[in-house]
Amino acid sequence: MRRAVCPGSFDPITNGHLDIIERASKLYDVVHVAVAINRNKQGMFTIEERIALIEETTAQYGNIVVESHLGLLVDFCRERDIPAIVKGLRAVSDFDYELQMAQMNHGLTGVETLFLPTSPTYSFLSSTLVKEVASYGGDVSHLLPETVHRRLVERIAERRAQQ
Ligand code: PNS
Repeated sequence: MRRAVCPGSFDPITNGHLDIIERASKLYDVVHVAVAINRNKQGMFTIEERIALIEETTAQYGNIVVESHLGLLVDFCRERDIPAIVKGLRAVSDFDYELQMAQMNHGLTGVETLFLPTSPTYSFLSSTLVKEVASYGGDVSHLLPETVHRRLVERIAERRAQQ
């Protein structure tokens, strides 16, 4: 079995993430989506909610396993015998940090990182920007799967009602 992992925060999953996961799913037998648990950062969605949204929107690909992970990505890979990390590169600005992480991860355990250039349609897209635009009422429906967009709009309304 040829395995790879697509890691990230996925708060929430966007069409840009899905583009990378779909393309990785065609290159590997099994693609693990690793949702990073960051105890220092409270997200818009809980880890369980993020996993459910990813499972729902990637079910069509047929070879995706979605899991949370706490700690080093290289340990997640080692425990599952995953030799490759697949990441999207949106622009040159992503490159510095991604190169550092790829080199660090390779130095730690020998795990390889493969970069896929994101589709130009999504080169500006990030979960952070989507949340910000949506929270000010901007239309981000074309940047998210329909179900994720609906949940995001609901969550923003819930948060507003609590304030
Ligand atoms: O969606 P993000 O926030 O860009 O994802 C970054 C993520 C989660 C992929 C990266 O921070 C990560 O792999 N964190 C796990 C902890 C780790 O292995 N850190 C050392 C990286 S060299």
